[in-house]
Amino acid sequence: MSVTLHTGSFLHAPRGEAEGMALAALAVEAGRIVAFDSQAKLSERYPEALCIAHPGLIVPGFVDAHVHFPQLAMAGAHGESLLDWLDRYTFPAELEFANARHAQTRARQFVGMLRRAGTTNAMIFGVSFPKAMRALFETLNEAGMGGATGLVWMNQEGPDGLLSSTEECRAASEALLSEFCSVGSLRYAVLPRFVPSCSPKMLQAAGDFLQAHPDLLLQSHLSESLDEVKWVQQLYPKATDYTDVYEQFGLLGRRSSYAHGIHLSDKELQRLSATKTRLVHCPSANLYLGSGLFDYRRAKSAGVEVALGSDVGAGTSLCLLDVLRDFYGVQMVQGNRLSVGEMLHLATQAGADLLGMTDETGSFEPGKRADFVALRPKWDDLFAARWAQCSSMEEQFFAAAMLGGTSAIASTTIAGQTTVHPG
Ligand code: GUN
Ligand code: ZN
Repeated sequence: MSVTLHTGSFLHAPRGEAEGMALAALAVEAGRIVAFDSQAKLSERYPEALCIAHPGLIVPGFVDAHVHFPQLAMAGAHGESLLDWLDRYTFPAELEFANARHAQTRARQFVGMLRRAGTTNAMIFGVSFPKAMRALFETLNEAGMGGATGLVWMNQEGPDGLLSSTEECRAASEALLSEFCSVGSLRYAVLPRFVPSCSPKMLQAAGDFLQAHPDLLLQSHLSESLDEVKWVQQLYPKATDYTDVYEQFGLLGRRSSYAHGIHLSDKELQRLSATKTRLVHCPSANLYLGSGLFDYRRAKSAGVEVALGSDVGAGTSLCLLDVLRDFYGVQMVQGNRLSVGEMLHLATQAGADLLGMTDETGSFEPGKRADFVALRPKWDDLFAARWAQCSSMEEQFFAAAMLGGTSAIASTTIAGQTTVHPG
């Protein structure tokens, strides 16, 4: 197998602080990083290697820790808060995935758009239909994209077409898990939609399924809107709080993560921390649905690990650079100051950790998959003007997040395969 040298300026944040290296190179063999060092040293070590020079700034591929496969076409639908938005836009869009051909087309579009947005690995909330999920697994595998996905479990409080019995969900999940997750870079995730969508029996079955399969991940939604929290209180009057409901069914733990977690009490944060359960902050979606302001510092101070999600279709961009811009704003209005290293870590290594892929992706450490993006301005715009003034790689990355967005992604490399994005 031959070695390829990818050269340029590299910035990553494997431990939370930004670490940069200019005039550097990644030596890549069979899709994996075999060395990360100065260009001069690696050119000497691999004199025969094919050399690919990347313009601008190279950072690890983004890891989107919460994005919905069937919600592309309803992103940007106007004017509702969470529960009405689900009924009015989300469930009708998801019902269309009962048609396998529609699902196939959307799977190709979805994976192409993730790659265009610089996402190389993701935790993907699927849909209720096994055939649609097969199309997604196959398309992700073809693209070499890593992460986790699975069937959405729901058996109440939605249109009949989206509901399946507990036994149907368990059996279909078992089949998808054994077919798609024994080889390659994809893991299986059990995805009970959220407490109101699942009967107690279904939540218990999700907990049992998680325990039965040690490689499985679990993700759901928690405490996104105040109306949702109130609804859960009515459904479970004896539970101490929303988090307690998930805990009762064995759904907390180091393989579990929850999107949002905006309105949690100190006690709930303490339970998440004690059980090593993670949260996924989705600032663009929270602003869009008016759900509230997640306090990142409060969650981190309570010992809860946090990753970043686009949450498209409630989110308005698949590009984690855009999501970082909203993250920065949401934290600034709460008086939380953030370092560039923290932001880069959140969009890359923190997501890899959530996926159980700490040693697989998220930074340039040798042994990991060669997943990275090259950032640079494309047009004569605010981003280009700022870029010309930047005197460090950290400044360049921050400018890409504040001003660049998707247009800043010049190319995406997944497991060593580079796609250059035209115009
Ligand atoms: N809560 C339950 N389902 C969903 C969903 O599809 N999107 C968001 N943002 N929240 C949810
Ligand atoms: Zn979501």
